[in-house]
Amino acid sequence: MVWNNKLHIMSGQYTIDEKNHERQYLLAKNLQPLTQRALQHIKLPQNIKVLDVACGMGETTRLLAKHFNGADITGADIDGVLVQTAKTITAQSGDNINFITADATQLPFEDNTFDVVFSRYLLMHVPSPLTILLEMKRVCKPGGIVFAQEPDINSSGSHPHSWAYDKVKEYFNALFIDGLIGRKLPAYFKQAGLHNLQYHADIAFEVHTNDLRRMYTLTAEALEGALLAKKLSTKEEHTAWVNELRRVENDADAVHLTHPVIAVWGTK
Ligand SMILES: C[S@@+](CC[C@H](N)C(=O)[O-])C[C@H]1O[C@@H](n2cnc3c(N)ncnc32)[C@H](O)[C@@H]1O
Repeated sequence: MVWNNKLHIMSGQYTIDEKNHERQYLLAKNLQPLTQRALQHIKLPQNIKVLDVACGMGETTRLLAKHFNGADITGADIDGVLVQTAKTITAQSGDNINFITADATQLPFEDNTFDVVFSRYLLMHVPSPLTILLEMKRVCKPGGIVFAQEPDINSSGSHPHSWAYDKVKEYFNALFIDGLIGRKLPAYFKQAGLHNLQYHADIAFEVHTNDLRRMYTLTAEALEGALLAKKLSTKEEHTAWVNELRRVENDADAVHLTHPVIAVWGTK
C-alpha cells in the first residue's frame, strides 16, 4: 500500500499536514477496540441502513460493515482523496460499501434515510458540532440511532514519565477546536433533541506494542506547520518534541496511557 498524501482537515482553524497515510491508519487501528466495545451495546436487526460521517479512509466504515453484518453501509467524507483511498482499500477487503464525497454540514440524503448515523473524531475538529449533530439527526430515521465517539484530551502520559506527553496534551488542546469535547457530548445530544442517551467511556493503555506511541510521533510531525504558524512552538522546540516522542516510541519498556475516549448515542 502506498502512503503518500496530504490531508486538510476542513475546519478552517488548523491543518494537519499528512506526510503519509500511516498516521490515519494507526489512529484507526488504535481506536478500533474502543469503538468495537462501544458498538457491542448496540444490537439492531439485519438489513438496516448505516451512514459513517467523516469516514476518512473507511476504517470505521469497514468496522461498521462487520458489526452490522448484512447492512447497507455508506461512508461520506469531505476529502475526495481520502474517499478514493477508502474505495481502493475496501475493494481489496471485499466489503460491500458505498463511499461518497460530502460535507457533514450538508449531507446529500433525504430526511429519515438511515437506521444508524455514526461519526468518530469529527466533532472535535468542527466549529459547530451541534450543526453536524442536527444534520446527522435529520438523515436518521425516527427511532434510529445517532452515534458519536470523541476524545477528551485531559491527560496523556507515559511511564517512565516523558515531558513530550505533557506537550501532547498542551499542543492538542491549543490546536484542535475542542479537545475536551468528549465530556460535552451528552449536552450536545440533548440540545439536538436526541433521546435515551447511552454512553461508553474507554481508555487505551499500551504495554507490549508501540503503535500508539508511533501514532503520537507521526501526529507531532504532522502538526509542525500548524504549531509554527500559530507561534505555539519554534522549529527547534518542535524538533526536540518529535525526537523525544520518537525516543519513547522506541523504548521497549515504556508504557503509554492515553486520554479518555467517549462514545455517546441516542435515539431520534
Ligand atoms: C481524524 S479523521 C477521522 C476519520 C475516521 N472517522 C476515523 O475515526 O478513523 C477526521 C475526518 O473528518 C473529515 N472531515 C472534517 N471536516 C468534515 C466535514 N465538514 N464533513 C465531512 N468530513 C469532514 C476529514 O476529512 C477526516 O477524514
